[in-house]
Formats: sequence, C-alpha cells, structure tokens
Amino acid sequence: MTKKHILTFETYDEWDVVPMEAIYTVHNLQYGASLETLPSEAFEKVHAFAFRGHASLSAEIMDAFPNLGMVANYGVGFDTIDVAHATSKGIKVSNTPDVLTDDVADLAVGMIIAQSRGIVGASSWIKSGNWAERGAFGLQRKVSGKRIGIVGLGRIGRAIAERMQPFGGPIHYFSRAEKETPGWFHHADIVELAAEVDILVVTVSGGPNTIGIVGTEALNALGSDGLLINVSRGTTIDEGALLDALERGTIRAAALDVFENEPHIDVRFHRLENVLLSPHQSSGTIETRKVMGQLQRDNLAAFFAGKPLLTAVN
Ligand code: DGY
Repeated sequence: MTKKHILTFETYDEWDVVPMEAIYTVHNLQYGASLETLPSEAFEKVHAFAFRGHASLSAEIMDAFPNLGMVANYGVGFDTIDVAHATSKGIKVSNTPDVLTDDVADLAVGMIIAQSRGIVGASSWIKSGNWAERGAFGLQRKVSGKRIGIVGLGRIGRAIAERMQPFGGPIHYFSRAEKETPGWFHHADIVELAAEVDILVVTVSGGPNTIGIVGTEALNALGSDGLLINVSRGTTIDEGALLDALERGTIRAAALDVFENEPHIDVRFHRLENVLLSPHQSSGTIETRKVMGQLQRDNLAAFFAGKPLLTAVN
C-alpha cells in the first residue's frame, strides 16, 4: 500500500520519528525554513500536518497544500494555529489535552517553591564560593499558608490549585463563571483577584481573547510583595508592563515558562535578579512527550481512517 504523505514541523524525538516514518512518507519543515525548501511533490501529496512549535501556522501555509485535511497539534495550546481558517476550509484540527496537565501543574508548583525559596540562587551561592567566603545565603519567603490566585480554572489551573491546597493557604481563582470547587473563592475580575493573593498563577489559554489580560492594574494590585507565575502563553501578560513592574519592584518577583516572541525573549529579562526563567518546557518530560506524540499519531490515524478525532479542536 502506498504511504500517505504528512508534513512535520520542527524537530521530533526519535521515538516519534520512527513510528511516523513507518506509516507515512514524512516531509519536514524546520523552524524558520521557507516552504520552498520542500520538494514540489509535497504540496499536492500532503494530506495532514503534524504541527509543533510556536511559530505561526497561518492561512497562507495551509493554503499552499490544496489537499490538506488535518492539522494534528503536538501540545494542548493551539493559539498559533489559524483554527478559524482551518474550519472554513474543512480542515480538522486536534491537540493533546489532559496528557500534559500533571507536568504543567508540577512545574508551576516547582516554580512557586523555587522562586519563593531562592533555590536557584542558593545553589549558585555555594558554587560561586560565597557560602564559604561570605556566609549564609539571604533569607527567603515562605510558601505554606500563602494566598494563591489562579487565572483561568481549566484543567491545568485546577490541577495547580489541587496541588497547592495542602500548603494551607486559601485558593482564589478568576474565571468568567463560578465553578464547582472545594471552597475556593471565585472572582470575575482579575484585578480584584490579584489584590486578594500573594501568588498569582496564570494558566488561562492563549489566543486573541486573552491577550494582555494581566496588565499594569493587576500587577499593581498584586503588589510589591507579590509573586507572578506564568505557564500559559507569553501573550496573556502585558510583557512590557511586567518588565516595568519587575524593574521597579512594584511586584516582588516572577517565574515564567512562556514569553512573547519565544525563543528570542526580551533581553530586559536577562538583566533581572527577581525573575526565574524557564524555556517553555512545562510538558518537557520524556514520559509526557512520549504520550503526547502517541496521541498526535492516534489523531492522524483516526483522520486517515475516516474516524472521529480523539481530541478534536474544531
Ligand atoms: C502546550 O502544550 O501548549 C503547553 O505549552 C505545554 O508545552
């Protein structure tokens, strides 16, 4: 049987490449590469994309492939994919929800503790010889009992709230509608939420509806003792306002896994002492990436078999 053609984006691990190549003729487009680098036959023959990465998947790219019927995204967030255009052309889109929730929540909690207790700086303190030469590392901040605010109580926000609950502080959250929770406090306004908490964790999905939803007002409300965590998308926070707040100390600190313009992030971040930087790796464990790859392939297989997608977006 002749193999179907798919187009993969960026770099996959061998445990994904081997099974994809066993089933499909795989064309690949690296980050920043032009479509002209693809063999001319690819445009007619490709029926599905195995998309990953955070470069934009525009209408123009989709339209270059007249037989494209499916975009299987590797990741839960699909803000970089023009889903409206895909839908208008009858192109199906899938993502990989649920399987990465634990990892993203684990990292968020890790960042809360690491940034509050200065874990990264403490390690550097020893390695640079400061402990022996200059004495004890500076005092840090307690985590247990702190008031936690979650922006967006979806799957990931809820998983973070559940992990933070045993730390003993009250859990507050922002979402449009109140949700069923074990006694967490709902806020319909982000500024009001930020004013009530010590640690604000942004988990809301990216995309046009959430651009800059955490802005100057919310940062001011969080205040000079506040800690901001972002594991959603760089676009959800007004990044200029955040940089100003960190530089001026109008919030105490931040720990960020996502940025505008990744991976070429604003160099102002590099100069800050009060920010913990993480290179968008919240789902980046071997265990989870293997399951994400399998789910992406299962969605592709469902599409080529004419069956409903397992985790459809549109
Ligand atoms: C996703 O899958 O969209 C998240 O950013 C985790 O990498």
